[in-house]
Amino acid sequence: MTHYTNKKMRIIVIGSKGQLGWELCRRGKQHGFNIIARDLPIFDITDRNAIRKTITESNASLVINASAYTAVDKAESEAETAFAVNRDGPACLALSCAENRLPLIHISTDYVFDGRKQYPYLESDPVSPLGVYGNSKASGEEEVRKTLTEHIILRTSWLYGVHGSNFLKTMLRVGKENETLRVVDDQHGCPTYAADLAEAILSIANHLGKKGVEPWGTYHFCGKGKTTWHGFTEKIVELARPHISLKVKRIEPVTTAEYPTPARRPANSVLDCSSLANTFDITPLPWENSLSRAIDALLTKGTI
Ligand SMILES: NC(=O)c1ccc[n+]([C@@H]2O[C@H](COP(=O)([O-])OP(=O)(O)OC[C@H]3O[C@@H](n4cnc5c(N)ncnc54)[C@H](OP(=O)(O)O)[C@@H]3O)[C@@H](O)[C@H]2O)c1
Repeated sequence: MTHYTNKKMRIIVIGSKGQLGWELCRRGKQHGFNIIARDLPIFDITDRNAIRKTITESNASLVINASAYTAVDKAESEAETAFAVNRDGPACLALSCAENRLPLIHISTDYVFDGRKQYPYLESDPVSPLGVYGNSKASGEEEVRKTLTEHIILRTSWLYGVHGSNFLKTMLRVGKENETLRVVDDQHGCPTYAADLAEAILSIANHLGKKGVEPWGTYHFCGKGKTTWHGFTEKIVELARPHISLKVKRIEPVTTAEYPTPARRPANSVLDCSSLANTFDITPLPWENSLSRAIDALLTKGTI
């Protein structure tokens, strides 16, 4: 395994234009890492030759895979593409990393679980995905695990940020246009700010850069505390209302059964993050504080 001094660390970020990838590139550069950004249309994770070429020619010390097919409902009718991006791509990436003796940080999801557990999910809990997206991500995890010892699989949940499309931006948009919103109140999870997740990943990268530190395996990272999509929406509206004009007056709770979607979703998505805290000393921030920072960032960017 290659060891390196952190300031010279060259990191390949795949999925660099996504909400997480964008934060990784921006913050990685701010922290002094040398970032090699890759995404569609120039780089396709389903193209084995593109992966091999990028890895062999980059002289990198670490690969982070933030790319994914993330359209949960569309995946139900596009299983082939979802599996190509979320399983076959990571499998090929892990193989190339193994051939070049590079570690891989691979991002995964709470949707590998079926949500029937009453308590927060541990890394050791058996996966049992409900839909194609979760299945393809669980298969991707398995491929990475069996192909490359030097991996970190980091599962996260309910991801939102200032870049890209997400629940926060959708709720702000519909809150400007409608007096009443109807939002699901029987799915529980932990909203995660992409900026916080990016910082956690870069902190892991720093740890991996230290000689002799090789804590390979699967970890969880998400915002601290839990809520429902309805509770998340109430907080979004409360925090944004002093700054922007919102038409919304009522946020009505609805059940999952009243809001049918092509893909089934877990009722409990809460992830236990204590293993990450114990191993890397990385502790998530309360989700409400992070949401407040994200709304401030959107206001500064002028995008709400
Ligand atoms: N979003 C969530 O709520 C959530 C929750 C839990 C876990 N996660 C996981 O967190 C990670 C980051 O998610 P995110 O929300 O940042 O995703 P995202 O915003 O959808 O970004 C994914 C990026 O990957 C790119 N991509 C898609 N197919 C590709 C391919 N064949 N080759 C190369 N790049 C490709 C996408 O490009 P295009 O936009 O052009 O397709 C996009 O730039 C993923 O592993 C995801 O599964 C997300």
